[in-house]
Amino acid sequence: MTTLIKNGNIITATDNYVADILIEGEIIKAIGRDLNIETYNYSSLQIIDAAGMLVMPGGVDPHVHLDMPFMGTYSSDNYETGTRAALYGGTTTVIDFILQKQGNSLQAALQEWKGRSDNNCVGDYSFHMAVTDFNDDTKKEIKHFIEEEGITSFKTFMAYKGALMIDDRQMIGLMEEVKKCGGLINVHATNGDMIDYLIAKHIAEGKFSPLYHYLSQPEITEAEASERFVDMASYTGCPGYIVHLTCEGALNAVRNATRRNQKMFVETCIQYLIIDASKYEQEDGAKWVMSPPLREKKDQETLWAGINQGLVQVVATDHCPFMWEQKLMGKDDFSKIPNGHPAIENRMELLFSEGVNKGKITLNKFVEISSTNAAKIFGMFPKKGTIAVGSDADIVLWDANEEHTLSASTHHMNVDYSGYEGWQVKGKVKKVLLRGKLAIDNNECKVDKGFGKFVKRNKVSQVI
Ligand code: URP
Ligand code: ZN
Ligand code: ZN
Repeated sequence: MTTLIKNGNIITATDNYVADILIEGEIIKAIGRDLNIETYNYSSLQIIDAAGMLVMPGGVDPHVHLDMPFMGTYSSDNYETGTRAALYGGTTTVIDFILQKQGNSLQAALQEWKGRSDNNCVGDYSFHMAVTDFNDDTKKEIKHFIEEEGITSFKTFMAYKGALMIDDRQMIGLMEEVKKCGGLINVHATNGDMIDYLIAKHIAEGKFSPLYHYLSQPEITEAEASERFVDMASYTGCPGYIVHLTCEGALNAVRNATRRNQKMFVETCIQYLIIDASKYEQEDGAKWVMSPPLREKKDQETLWAGINQGLVQVVATDHCPFMWEQKLMGKDDFSKIPNGHPAIENRMELLFSEGVNKGKITLNKFVEISSTNAAKIFGMFPKKGTIAVGSDADIVLWDANEEHTLSASTHHMNVDYSGYEGWQVKGKVKKVLLRGKLAIDNNECKVDKGFGKFVKRNKVSQVI
């Protein structure tokens, strides 16, 4: 199939210009004004008129949890519903997390995750491998994952004590091996021992409401762990990526590290930029129980500034949805509420509306933090993350001015509430092409499960 997108205003992380895009099969073949398309057979040429639209690269969300066993249940979006909802919101590629079971191999975990994801994705996807048990056997598997499986990033948890957390001894060992093999370490950087203590203390005092989830993870728990992670990464020389960074204290730790010219990247998530901890005082506060928790208004200011200073490179979601019924597992005890928040479908439109349309970030910055930087950091660029000759034709057509309202009654995520119910958004995804195929057309999904492909990733990119 050959497709011509005409007259669109193309925005990349660096450019803004009006041109046509010629797509052959899955790949962008040419970009320009008055392209010479006479050589094509018109009967098979699909023309999309993008006049008045913004034409941007498909989003890359490098932090999602689909069909994931967690806290005694599974996240409620599976690979089909989650990647389809992502497409509706303009995200064409997601990176999900495989969790090693303590005592088992990384390969066993990969096979388990393949069992749930193979042939089930609507949009493109890749995996990070979460190492929850680093030992001599795990160490031997790292090279294979980077060189053969195309899984080049390894997630670590400094929290979730007794479940996913590793200690600093394991962290250092893993960092040395990952650096040697050309990979990168992702981290959930909060102090698991302090949090464990505070949870136990609050429960002993009879404090069970969602507010105490928030009060069990104060800013210092994140600032301390971020600084420790950054120091260990500096010592070992291993590239690092801090996931879901939420607050001023943690960002200041990174600011210090960058003075040492370390390879340290930072992700925040859309929720930390636009909603705050006052939600935990509401009756339905469990909807926003996630880790780390929502923070203060001053932290939102710090994060927006960090984006514009180049200290925060990625805005993801940490999409980890649970039905309200699942959230009620913790109705009498905040520590039993499954942690996580649905946003895979809303990330791009919320970031556009709150960021670009409210003047906080430029259009180019929007593309950079919602697509290009994640593709670069995680070894998918320039296949993903940009509009360029030779790149996958993952393209989103936006109406920058269309207003709409977010609601559980209209979203496509498999979750029965929205963390953004009634939120007024300006800017709408109108059409989405995934590898040249029109996947979303005016609120209708045109591709089925199995269309999404696994993306094998390269070693850590040197381009950022
Ligand atoms: O609350 C969260 N973030 N749930 C998903 C697991 C994680 O820590 O990323
Ligand atoms: Zn986390
Ligand atoms: Zn997560």
